[in-house]
Amino acid sequence: MKTKILSGREVSKFYKNKIRENILDLKKKGIIPGLAVVLVGDDPASKIYVNSKSRTCSKLGIFSKTLPYPNKITQVELITVIEKLNKDKQINGILVQMPLPLHIDEFEIINRILPEKDVDGFHPENLGKLVIGKESFVSCTPAGILAILKYYNISVEGKHVVIIGRSNIVGKPLLNLLYQKNDFGNATVTICHSKTKNLSKITSQADILIVAAGNPNMITVDMIKEGSVIIDVGINRIKDKSTKKGYRIVGDVDFEGVKNKVSAITPVPGGVGPMTITMLMQNTLEATLRTI
Ligand SMILES: NC(=O)c1ccc[n+]([C@@H]2O[C@H](COP(=O)([O-])OP(=O)(O)OC[C@H]3O[C@@H](n4cnc5c(N)ncnc54)[C@H](OP(=O)(O)O)[C@@H]3O)[C@@H](O)[C@H]2O)c1
Repeated sequence: MKTKILSGREVSKFYKNKIRENILDLKKKGIIPGLAVVLVGDDPASKIYVNSKSRTCSKLGIFSKTLPYPNKITQVELITVIEKLNKDKQINGILVQMPLPLHIDEFEIINRILPEKDVDGFHPENLGKLVIGKESFVSCTPAGILAILKYYNISVEGKHVVIIGRSNIVGKPLLNLLYQKNDFGNATVTICHSKTKNLSKITSQADILIVAAGNPNMITVDMIKEGSVIIDVGINRIKDKSTKKGYRIVGDVDFEGVKNKVSAITPVPGGVGPMTITMLMQNTLEATLRTI
């Protein structure tokens, strides 16, 4: 069987070109989309993500500002920052880089972002709308997964989709996207987690298997159905002395082991990963268009 490699890089390029064109049109009308990224503390991984978001913004013509704060910022001070950004006319999208320090209640902070500027799709109003099938901002990784499936014409209708992982940012929104009664929904979805019994019995029934567990190479060839589609969301750093950096990035699926048994699969890196920032840009554009 010829296996299709689902390239997130290719899909991301396709979306970015469309976003860039839309932004050029907006610029002709004097409108420039704006994204504010709030960064608390000095976590190196968070800094890398934030830099990469702001680089992508500038490549696409989105105005972006990063607001860095020390770890000791209080919850009240952070809420004041959010409220200012809510009122800022230059800013269409607000993103608070997670995780926040333990003394700050993440839910409370997300709750203070205006839902119409919540380009991460984490606000309860947006999540609630997603559940009842109303238009909302959808969190970026699940939106990116859907964009990959659409780009490669992989319909989920009537398929058994198994998702491993029930996080608020991946598993739960994805579940709610896939079973909706709409053009790109109507899947039968099973969601698994660390307390699921007989995981391989469930995964081997999946027409489409989406893995977001954060467990390197946990899905092996004996756990999957012949001809299925595999979406690997996992990003795991494993030691590898043969590389310059001393590590390499792998997904949650044993790519080499499964690739000849499946009909299509996302690689890691280069699969779901590049889609997350692209969907953030798409949501920022969307937030801007909604203000016109
Ligand atoms: N590509 C991207 O842009 C992107 C974006 C976000 C995340 N990720 C990656 O995706 C992975 C998941 O991220 P996340 O934030 O959703 O993680 P998370 O919050 O840690 O959630 C992991 C989920 O997987 C479940 N799980 C863990 N080990 C399992 C096992 N052995 N069997 C069955 N279920 C298991 C957990 O179950 P419990 O609920 O029972 O604990 C939990 O629901 C990570 O590798 C992360 O780096 C990638």
